[in-house]
Amino acid sequence: MELIITVKGIHKVYKKRKSKQKFIAVSDVSFDVGKGEIVGLLGPNGAGKTTTIKTICGLLVPDQGSVTINGFDSVKDRNKALRHISAVLEGNRNLYWRLTVLENLEYFAGNRGDSKKEIQVRVNELLTLFQLQDKKYELVNNLSRRS
Ligand SMILES: Nc1ncnc2c1ncn2[C@@H]1O[C@H](COP(=O)(O)OP(=O)(O)OP(=O)(O)O)[C@@H](O)[C@H]1O
Ligand SMILES: [Mg+2]
Repeated sequence: MELIITVKGIHKVYKKRKSKQKFIAVSDVSFDVGKGEIVGLLGPNGAGKTTTIKTICGLLVPDQGSVTINGFDSVKDRNKALRHISAVLEGNRNLYWRLTVLENLEYFAGNRGDSKKEIQVRVNELLTLFQLQDKKYELVNNLSRRS
């Protein structure tokens, strides 16, 4: 089967801000996803699912190991790898609550490495598509899930 995602031995340690304590969130996780496959990540609270997904999406850099997306390394070839990711959709905390709708869209579009002009056009299209033009300067924290 042709592989689209390869996760190899990823390891992520979070450091507590004020102490020197370290917390191992992900330890030696490896798996492959084939083209066209649908994969769910299951585990108890705090198991490291979000940390793993964020690493795959290039939002976190693993302390060890690597992620390859359609042949591109998520760190060394970040921009090319990100071209193959279309959305990060999850329940709670994937948006930045203290930023506006517009700022969230610009931030995530910016992560993909698009030019300012491309971002402006795309963000405007999305605001219209999802009928959020009149909410674009609203803090995400002030919106309900349905807004
Ligand atoms: N930014 C952070 N700083 C410090 N510790 C963190 C940070 N993010 C996550 N953790 C800790 O790392 C561990 C793994 O968290 P993660 O969010 O990846 O788990 P999860 O499997 O997605 O959990 P849930 O089912 O609750 O969504 C948890 O113990 C969490 O408290
Ligand atoms: Mg989670």
